Amino acid sequence: MAEPVKVQLGAVQQTLFIPLAGRARESRRKHPLVRDPKAAQIMAAVDFDAARYSRGWGAGVTVLRTAVFDEFVRGFLADHPEGTVVELGTGLNSRFDRVDNGRTRWIDLDLPDTVELRRRFFEDTDRRRMVAASVLDEDWMAVVAASPGPYLFVAEGVLVYLDEAPTVLTRIAERFPGALLVFDTYTKRMLDQQHRMAAKRNLTALWAWPCDDPHTLEPLGLEVVRASAVTRPPATVRARLPRRYRYALPLLRPVVGDVAAVTLFRAR
Ligand SMILES: C[S@@+](CC[C@H](N)C(=O)[O-])C[C@H]1O[C@@H](n2cnc3c(N)ncnc32)[C@H](O)[C@@H]1O
Repeated sequence: MAEPVKVQLGAVQQTLFIPLAGRARESRRKHPLVRDPKAAQIMAAVDFDAARYSRGWGAGVTVLRTAVFDEFVRGFLADHPEGTVVELGTGLNSRFDRVDNGRTRWIDLDLPDTVELRRRFFEDTDRRRMVAASVLDEDWMAVVAASPGPYLFVAEGVLVYLDEAPTVLTRIAERFPGALLVFDTYTKRMLDQQHRMAAKRNLTALWAWPCDDPHTLEPLGLEVVRASAVTRPPATVRARLPRRYRYALPLLRPVVGDVAAVTLFRAR
């Protein structure tokens, strides 16, 4: 049997196990909303107590969030089959495998320790490459600019950890006018809830960037193209929701509200 893969990641980087564990668990179901067999393989291969990241209703919500993101990315690729998708804070995400149309270019960017781990499970190809960088730096933008446009920047579960998120968004908007961006935002109420949950579970990665209304980001050089909420997914996702999600959503909404907004923006 292969040696378990050691995981040496900073606290925020370790949060990649939250969506990964959710997708692994979902993929084992008979009717998965998101199919990600690689997530289960990675979970089995790593020497890490990832189970602490997969408890409670949060895992199901994370899978739903991923389904909404996948839908936005498929929409971009339908309009721009040869455009470039830039996955910021990609973690061990395998969205490319779910949405690839055989023509798109793809960049998976994350911090160096995450990319080092990612390279144990993913390889660069002629259309897809990994970039080790902080989204807070600017050098990586030249790598993106060298790939053909139009561009879609995707950041799932990433910007909420960065209080510098508005600076990152402003820089992308200035450097890539006309580009599309899709990311999730969380209200101040959700941030407070995450802080309480993190204290209980002894997790040190705290959400840092509240956003009560994605429209308030428009002065950063962005315009809202399409707004969605994880608990109110687009019709195309709603149409293929497995029964357990269809039953759970109306019960979840009064408790957690819209949890996360997933919004598609265009850089002006
Ligand atoms: C909750 S995980 C989400 C991972 C992935 N987007 C997914 O949905 O599976 C947060 C990710 O953000 C990355 N991250 C945090 N700060 C970052 C930064 N400054 N630059 C690039 N990536 C960052 C972490 O390494 C981690 O992979």
